[in-house]
Amino acid sequence: MPSSFLKLNGYCLVIGLLMSSWTCMVVKSQLSADFYSATCPNLLAVVRKQVQNAVKTEMRMAASLLRLHFHDCFVNGCDASLLLDGSDSEKFALPNLNSARGFEVVDAIKSAVESACSGIVSCADILAIAARDAVVLSGGQTWKVLLGRRDGLVANKDGATNGLPSPFDSVGNITAKFVAVGLNQTDVVILSGSHTIGLARCATFSSRLFNFSGTGAPDSTMDTTMVSDLQGRCPTTGDGNNTAPLDRNSIDLFDNHYFQNLLNGKGLLQSDQILYSSDEAATTTKSLVELYSNNLSLFLGDFAKSMIKMGNINPLTGSSGQIRKDCRAVNS
Ligand code: HEM
Ligand SMILES: *[C@@H]1O[C@H](CO)[C@@H](O)[C@H](O)[C@H]1NC(C)=O
Ligand SMILES: *[C@@H]1O[C@H](CO)[C@@H](O)[C@H](O)[C@H]1NC(C)=O
Ligand SMILES: *[C@@H]1O[C@H](CO)[C@@H](O)[C@H](O)[C@H]1NC(C)=O
Ligand SMILES: *[C@@H]1O[C@H](CO)[C@@H](O)[C@H](O)[C@H]1NC(C)=O
Ligand SMILES: *[C@@H]1O[C@H](CO)[C@@H](O)[C@H](O)[C@H]1NC(C)=O
Repeated sequence: MPSSFLKLNGYCLVIGLLMSSWTCMVVKSQLSADFYSATCPNLLAVVRKQVQNAVKTEMRMAASLLRLHFHDCFVNGCDASLLLDGSDSEKFALPNLNSARGFEVVDAIKSAVESACSGIVSCADILAIAARDAVVLSGGQTWKVLLGRRDGLVANKDGATNGLPSPFDSVGNITAKFVAVGLNQTDVVILSGSHTIGLARCATFSSRLFNFSGTGAPDSTMDTTMVSDLQGRCPTTGDGNNTAPLDRNSIDLFDNHYFQNLLNGKGLLQSDQILYSSDEAATTTKSLVELYSNNLSLFLGDFAKSMIKMGNINPLTGSSGQIRKDCRAVNS
């Protein structure tokens, strides 16, 4: 146990006795890297093995798992609300429908974790650990995942529809959605760097290929070779389910090519390219894109910090929420 935690606990006890238990609650609500060190000592190894297996079977799963943690944290905080099935399931919200994936892998991780230490580890923490492992297995930098989140009791489909950023949002709109959960515009740029791995469906970017904004022409900020390639991949007669790499430069590698692509008009989503090419970007995000395009280690280090920040969004701690037995349903 780190000494700062002991100090805080001592402080907590004294102040708690003298004043109120509120100070104690504040201290307790902090997540910590060693939360399960006594109750589930092999947790990190158990999760890593499952993520490794899944990524070995399908490399894209790393991207899909990373995205699940993001889509969880932005809706009701990092409480695994995204994993709940049912009529109000966030899985049916537009940003997730036919798009969010990896739920079976999360089930497999949860099952392995339950075998190792039953009833101890939340699904929300499993998502946070799996996201970190996914980044590391893709070549990114590791970080200490803070733990101690508990699982929420409700899903919030409308929260997912309205709170998650859309690929058609402006820089200001995306920033507002990040600010609403305690992140900022720097985090927008850094965490968008996640799009260095994974795929996107044609439906999320084909408006840039055909009659962009009703002009009859493709998005002029997209590289013309990339436009023709993607027009072939995303026929107007198609169902929008074909996919293209978010980073065509190095599809599965967690690097800073995402930012280099933006400098070359090779961002896939409109929400990617506008971080560099829009009028708004000139006074806001463009210089950060340039910074990260030039410095891989700076990006990887800052990415780790922003992921910890994202993982701290509104966690349930103490006796709030529960430790779900099945990530797809609240305990009966
Ligand atoms: C900044 C605003 C963001 C927007 C507008 C956005 C939008 C999208 C869209 C439209 C897709 C493709 C979905 C589909 O094909 O249906 C996608 C994929 C992805 N996003 Fe984002 N995203 C954003 C931020 C983030 C953040 C913060 C993360 C992680 C921390 C992230 C991680 C990913 C990953 C890894 C994929 C690929 C998933 C896969 O291949 O299964 N995105 N995003
Ligand atoms: C974001 O979108 C809404 C419409 O949904 C719009 O009213 C607002 O002005 C937009 N811009 C910003 C910076 O939030
Ligand atoms: C965003 O927050 C980080 C700390 O988490 C800080 O270093 C950075 O300067 C902030 N950026 C903006 C634009 O406020
Ligand atoms: C492009 O879209 C606009 C309206 O959005 C429409 O009026 C125009 O006919 C379209 N052009 C082509 C070439 O499809
Ligand atoms: C796209 O794929 C999903 C399954 O991932 C399917 O449910 C949906 O019907 C498909 N869309 C179309 C238009 O076929
Ligand atoms: C890149 O960022 C690192 C911090 O991660 C810094 O130490 C280094 O000086 C930067 N390199 C350049 C060329 O700016």
